[in-house]
Amino acid sequence: LKAEALEELQGVTDAKHLDELRVKYQGKKGKLTEILRGMGGLSAEERPIIGQLANEVRDAIDAAVTAHAERFEREETERRLASETIDVTLPGRKLPRGAVHPLTRVIEEIEQIFIGMGYQIAEGPEVETDYHNFEALNLPKDHPARDMQDSFYITEELLLRTHTSPVQVRTMQRMAGEVPVKVICPGKVYRRDDDDATHSFQFHQIEGLVIGKNIRMSDLKGTLLTFIQKLFGEEAQIRMRPSFFPFTEPSAEVDVMYKKKGATEPSWLEILGCGMVHPRVLEMSGYDPEQYSGFAFGMGAERIAMLKYGIDDIRHFYNNDERFLEQFARQ
Ligand code: PHE
Repeated sequence: LKAEALEELQGVTDAKHLDELRVKYQGKKGKLTEILRGMGGLSAEERPIIGQLANEVRDAIDAAVTAHAERFEREETERRLASETIDVTLPGRKLPRGAVHPLTRVIEEIEQIFIGMGYQIAEGPEVETDYHNFEALNLPKDHPARDMQDSFYITEELLLRTHTSPVQVRTMQRMAGEVPVKVICPGKVYRRDDDDATHSFQFHQIEGLVIGKNIRMSDLKGTLLTFIQKLFGEEAQIRMRPSFFPFTEPSAEVDVMYKKKGATEPSWLEILGCGMVHPRVLEMSGYDPEQYSGFAFGMGAERIAMLKYGIDDIRHFYNNDERFLEQFARQ
């Protein structure tokens, strides 16, 4: 029996087969069990001899079963290790990664420059009252300059703001005659325009306002020159041309001498409007023009970003084409 069992166990192929063999010999109805059970019918002389033999056979089968079981377990572990091996030398997969939108970047950069000069950031509603958007900026209802900014009216008194100047009005009201006022107002503005390469019915402005004692045009020019050189580089130059805005007097337009991306020569490019705050504007929002003066300026964020990054179509900012946006991922 021992020889038979051990030979059969030699040929065992897997864990299931091994278990079948174990049952065949040692199970309740197994061959060895049968012998052990039959011991009662043996004589007193035979019993110890057969008992010893039977024990030997049992130990031998046990040992063989255990040895095979261990072998199967070891083989199984090796198989698993082999199939689950991680190749640490494989290059990783690239995860898709977003980028800060070029407009957001320019706006944040401009904010940082002015924060560095002691300005605070002020924000206001995009749905404005006619009073804040026009009236308080010296544009009464019948003023022809209202046509300069074709507006989206919601009711007779409410409209989508056409510039961020109303935030400056709200700032003056909030400051209630206190100085200094030093804010920049970034945000979305809306004008009735047909969209093309340089126009968009919605765009972004960044405007600034400073009010204090003895604020002069030279302060305005110095501030803008510092700002432009921080934004476009130390060699950038500016020039001011006389212009007109109802809320500033005198008013000017500012050009920057700048070599556009792709251009061979630098040229004068218009980049912002500015002026000394009109005395009536100061007065309407609670500042005595005899005591205080101030300057204001405003620029389009898209225009600045287009110059700075050499972008030729304003619609790129809004089409959400990943091929465009990706270029700003890691600069
Ligand atoms: N609010 C003006 C505009 O939208 C810009 C501006 C702001 C001009 C402040 C002068 C002073 O065009």
